[in-house]
Amino acid sequence: REKEIASLFQANELARNFFHSCLTKTDYGINARNYLAHRGITAEIAVKFRLGYAPAAWDKLSNALLKRNLKADILLKAGLAVHKNGGEGFYDRFRDRIIFPICNARGKVVGFGGRIMDQTQPKYLNSPETPIFNKRHILYGLDIAGEHIRSSGQAIVVEGYMDAITAHAHGMANVVASLGTAFTAEQAKPLLRYGAEIIFAYDSDAAGQNATLRALSIVRVLGAKVRVVKIPDGKDPDEFIRKHGIEEFRTLVKNAATLIDYQLQLALETIDHTTLEGKVAVVGKIVPVLADSNNAVEVNAYIIRLSQTLGVAESAIRSELRKYLTTT
Ligand code: GTP
Ligand code: MN
Ligand code: MN
Ligand code: MN
Ligand code: MN
Repeated sequence: REKEIASLFQANELARNFFHSCLTKTDYGINARNYLAHRGITAEIAVKFRLGYAPAAWDKLSNALLKRNLKADILLKAGLAVHKNGGEGFYDRFRDRIIFPICNARGKVVGFGGRIMDQTQPKYLNSPETPIFNKRHILYGLDIAGEHIRSSGQAIVVEGYMDAITAHAHGMANVVASLGTAFTAEQAKPLLRYGAEIIFAYDSDAAGQNATLRALSIVRVLGAKVRVVKIPDGKDPDEFIRKHGIEEFRTLVKNAATLIDYQLQLALETIDHTTLEGKVAVVGKIVPVLADSNNAVEVNAYIIRLSQTLGVAESAIRSELRKYLTTT
């Protein structure tokens, strides 16, 4: 079992080197190099993140690894190869894709993400869960960002590979990606160990907003310091940074909303609070958030603001808060 784990790590490391060579050293890697250049990824950044290219072939990686004395069952277990449907044999999982090696906090390769270079779906293909790859525990880029998260006291959490890479390429080094999955308590743990404030900067589309809300409910119970960046005009951090520059992104981060502010804004935007039902609904959404705060001054300030915005008496909001606190 321990031997198998070591073999899986070895297979992944060899695969990473293979993909990286395909990207940087082959003639057929030209489309991948052009794709990355087109997305603003320099050769230097491609090396820093050990990006790769999986060739458009059925067995190039498998053959290369078998030649290095890795066993077929390890390739299959690592998720690098896939069984042929029904039949004997297997083929490479990743073909004709940009490869993003995914590392654990110590920088060992645990899996891969592969992006198609056109509009075909699925856009990204990831390694399956393996004995060494559990998506719920991994933050992409943590091996590189860890020390910067510690020293800055902030961890910026983005959705995608490209969001993290573009931020790093522009000198913002405390950024990690949660890889499109729901953010988990396991992912929060290393960030909390660093004593960092967690700042979510997810995509501003509906999926990103929902992911933000789920993430907030996860970190709230962990007692983490947390804020939320809202990226203007339907963008993700990668697009925003390339269009407006890193300084504007830093400003967004600096002005990131507190958890209460974010929930309040969202409630006011999504609920028609001109009606009585609407006012009741907004108060109902905000009261649980206020109940989580352990700062009475802060709570008081929000109650005053909410009272003014909704045209509801402060005393009514306070009484709802008391009711909530005694029933939970
Ligand atoms: P780009 O188009 O390359 O900029 O990707 P993106 O990161 O902006 O994609 P998106 O916002 O749609 O998704 C965010 C992250 O979710 C990606 O970086 C992936 O980690 C993951 N993801 C997105 N699409 C897929 C998919 O089709 N399959 C899987 N397994 N993961 C996906
Ligand atoms: Mn998205
Ligand atoms: Mn998407
Ligand atoms: Mn993107
Ligand atoms: Mn995106």
